[in-house]
Amino acid sequence: MLILGIETSCDETAAAVLEIKNGSFRILSNLVSSSVELQARYGGIVPEVAARKQVEFVMPVLEQVKKLGIPKNIDYIAVTSGPGLITSLRVGVEAARTLSYIWKKPLMQVNHLEGHIYSALLNKIQNSKFKVPASPAGGQNKPQIQNKNFQRLPKLVFPALALVVSGGHTQLILMRNYLDYKIIGETLDDAVGEAFDKVAKILDLGYPGGPVIAKMAEEGNRNSFGLPRPMLNSRDFNFSFSGLKTAVLYKVKDKRLNRKDKKNLCASFQEACVEVLVKKTIRAAREYKAKTIILGGGVAANKELREGLERMAGELEGVKLLIPEIKYTGDNAVMIALVGYFRKIKALKRKSIKKGDWSKVKVDPNMEL
Ligand code: KG4
Ligand code: ZN
Repeated sequence: MLILGIETSCDETAAAVLEIKNGSFRILSNLVSSSVELQARYGGIVPEVAARKQVEFVMPVLEQVKKLGIPKNIDYIAVTSGPGLITSLRVGVEAARTLSYIWKKPLMQVNHLEGHIYSALLNKIQNSKFKVPASPAGGQNKPQIQNKNFQRLPKLVFPALALVVSGGHTQLILMRNYLDYKIIGETLDDAVGEAFDKVAKILDLGYPGGPVIAKMAEEGNRNSFGLPRPMLNSRDFNFSFSGLKTAVLYKVKDKRLNRKDKKNLCASFQEACVEVLVKKTIRAAREYKAKTIILGGGVAANKELREGLERMAGELEGVKLLIPEIKYTGDNAVMIALVGYFRKIKALKRKSIKKGDWSKVKVDPNMEL
């Protein structure tokens, strides 16, 4: 089965071709063109700029995919239809609807957060990398990754608990089966990635904040600034990161921090975020007797978070931890194609032949799981 995935929910334009055969997969193409460098000049995502770049990048990115003999060979298309920026989403969804109509291939809609959850199944892949030509539109292309050898798709053991941490979301999701989601906790204000981005802005470190804070924190002392652990001991599984960001702001106010102070503050802030995320996830895993813990989303690239979760999940008996490779933590279309695969399997089982009708696929910027 050959699936074309398309993802345009924010500032990355991505297309991928995933092949799945007898429970194994290989990635024939995986292209991500990003406008993040341009967004950095504005200090954060400007929706109008992101959407304009999506329009410029979508055809060059799809053109690369076409070189693989698409559309003749593909079986169906999967596209992110929400949540995200409405005008960015619309670019990918309209492209996918058009291709579905012209090529007469079924179209499956995918929730962006589902993509982040399933990215954890794309683990430990031996890839060969090669550089793709710069997009004519001038976007920053990430190295294209191909995986020519088939690789076993890990089976999920349920119940599974997913921690999705991105720029727009922080959620704990309980799964009792494939494509079956129940949100058991979420942030009441800022997403954790958003807090990283805002703290980086406060410290004048640029955008996006996650990678730069993590880098600074490597040389900082995590115990040097006392910061709160918001909602660590609340009985529910919700989070809050807005107060933590404000606490950082107060540490900075009326002071001139030198580089060393900033490194210490980054380390202390990161430590506070990681401690809350890890401890609450482990508590939820115990309470719901999870057999699998999944980490996904842009913030899943954070080394301290990955290691913290690995350490604590290791103490839970019979629990498997699935963490995506770093290259699949950010937005990409392989994860979207993979969800499309599970959606198709479900549709086949239920013999719902109507599934895949392009005219039913609509953008929903506030789409829920
Ligand atoms: O999933 P993603 O690429 O886009 C959304 O769906 O939002 O996540 C982007 C977020 C940004 O807030 C970025 O600062 C954060 O992920 N991020 C990180 C790291 N790398 C990216 N946060 C913490 N540590 C990192 N290493
Ligand atoms: Zn994302």
